[in-house]
Amino acid sequence: MKTLILYFSAERGTTAGVAKDAAEALGADLYAITPEKPYTAADLNYRNPLARCNREFFAKKDVPTAGRIESFADYDRVLIGFPIWYGCAPLVVSSFCKGYDWTGKTVAAFATSGGSGIGRTAEKLRPFLSGADFKGARLVRSGAEVAAWMAE
Ligand SMILES: Cc1cc2nc3c(=O)[nH]c(=O)nc-3n(C[C@H](O)[C@H](O)[C@H](O)COP(=O)(O)O)c2cc1C
Repeated sequence: MKTLILYFSAERGTTAGVAKDAAEALGADLYAITPEKPYTAADLNYRNPLARCNREFFAKKDVPTAGRIESFADYDRVLIGFPIWYGCAPLVVSSFCKGYDWTGKTVAAFATSGGSGIGRTAEKLRPFLSGADFKGARLVRSGAEVAAWMAE
């Protein structure tokens, strides 16, 4: 089975670390979801009502991403990692998902957070993974946890 791990990581690289360890454990390829306009620390300061993250969250518009995975069709299984933002997946992740054909793929999402639970993350992400066998979303602390989930 050919596996791809997609991840978005912004604040401290926490999700990137989990994704890299999971890729190593699963022998998966790794791809960073990157917004066309990278986030600065000021953009991520959710305590400021006018910060980019808050403006994007309230606007609910797509966040354009840079680059493209040409070999996406080759993967049987795709894992998607991200930090919990406002209780679910960041908009940049669902924006990215819209650009690809998920038909026939096994998909699972993993998230890191500052304390929130996984909430309705899976339900909210599911519409952007049309045609996939979506295994849902889990909060994780390590790549080993992701690998153990995939072995269940
Ligand atoms: C814009 C924004 C919104 C966030 N919203 C939440 C939240 O609703 N619940 C939570 O527990 N953590 C929240 N966090 C914290 C991140 O989920 C957490 O720090 C995560 O591990 C960061 O991963 P990263 O270093 O890969 O970006 C938020 C962070 C940002 C920047």
